[in-house]
Amino acid sequence: MLFFHTSKIVEFLYLWGMLKKVLVTGGAGYIGSHTVVELFNAGYEPVLLDDFRNSNESVIDGLSNILGDRPELLKHDVCNTDYLRDYIRKHEVCGIIHFAAYKAVGESVENPLRYYQNNVEGLVSILKMVSENPEIPFVFSSSCTVYGEPQGQKEVSEKTPKTIPTSPYGFTKWLGEKIIDDLFFSQKKLRLMSLRYFNPIGAHSSTQIGELPIGKPNNLLPFITQTAAGLHEKLTIFGDSYPTIDGTCVRDYIHVVDLAEAHVKALDYLINAKDGCHEIVNIGTGNGSSVLQVVNTFEKVNDIKLNYEFGPNRPGDVIEIYANVDYAKKLLGWSAKKTINDAVKDAWNWEKSIRSIK
Ligand SMILES: NC(=O)c1ccc[n+]([C@@H]2O[C@H](COP(=O)([O-])OP(=O)(O)OC[C@H]3O[C@@H](n4cnc5c(N)ncnc54)[C@H](O)[C@@H]3O)[C@@H](O)[C@H]2O)c1
Repeated sequence: MLFFHTSKIVEFLYLWGMLKKVLVTGGAGYIGSHTVVELFNAGYEPVLLDDFRNSNESVIDGLSNILGDRPELLKHDVCNTDYLRDYIRKHEVCGIIHFAAYKAVGESVENPLRYYQNNVEGLVSILKMVSENPEIPFVFSSSCTVYGEPQGQKEVSEKTPKTIPTSPYGFTKWLGEKIIDDLFFSQKKLRLMSLRYFNPIGAHSSTQIGELPIGKPNNLLPFITQTAAGLHEKLTIFGDSYPTIDGTCVRDYIHVVDLAEAHVKALDYLINAKDGCHEIVNIGTGNGSSVLQVVNTFEKVNDIKLNYEFGPNRPGDVIEIYANVDYAKKLLGWSAKKTINDAVKDAWNWEKSIRSIK
């Protein structure tokens, strides 16, 4: 992998044994795989820990094509604390980014124990490594679900009060932040960050990696692209009479590559931080777009007519929310660069490439 880095500095650091590994749990997943690429581009050596329970091993081929070599892969359950301990004892790990978790709101309502076991136990397992190795910075995948339905102002900042989410999935993120808070309270030298993601969409422009849902997609964009590819007869938009710009729900859609870059900035920040912290940072674009606007943008940018219909409101759906991103700019010097047009184009190119559509 070494000589594919363009930066001479990276080669120098590697030769002198100064380039350290970043452990990326859930690194074969949607956001994890894109973050692996951005870590590599920034000169880190990402090591993926994933047991492929919600991803496909073909992701490693796609990553290899982008990186020029196969990344190091640890095919293990993040709940296997003994394995983690042994790996970290034998390798120099300069950071941990923890993506590995289940993420489907509806499924978490049907099977809450599955979510509590994996999302909470997995977090506790990896945090034990941080507690035992306090020099290792840690980044956690949190979510805007911790805000619930914002009252009044639809733009939420990190100071906006959290509300207890209604779904078990959302609650695992709420609780995850609290667990990290409690750990930090007990060990004030730890360097920790929770990134509250808004709605990641899009794919890598190389078409080598992208969102690869197992079974029926829970998120909007893969449902759109799969409908365009003929896998579903039509797309249902849940609700058309909400008090929003066009009656459909409003979200802050962020290109997954921008989101991946935010992780590199988060890690850079923590590695350089002199004092312990548990920083909480919104990662979005700062703009809300309605579901219908995304559908229309997809149709326009890709010159495709989508078959869609309006269905009933979905219980538990937040009506409108988008991020205040001032703190991400201030703390990390990061802001999103890509547009929804980029995201819908990249997502469709990715879908076409995996379905061999011209
Ligand atoms: N995608 C979103 O819309 C979104 C929004 C906010 C937050 N998040 C959070 O970001 C993280 C990543 O999301 P994603 O969209 O990339 O999900 P994903 O399902 O695509 O990726 C998660 C990866 O973790 C792996 N994994 C899960 N449990 C594991 C375990 N116990 N041991 C080893 N590997 C395990 C899966 O196999 C998968 O490859 C999750 O924590 C999710 O809750 C996602």
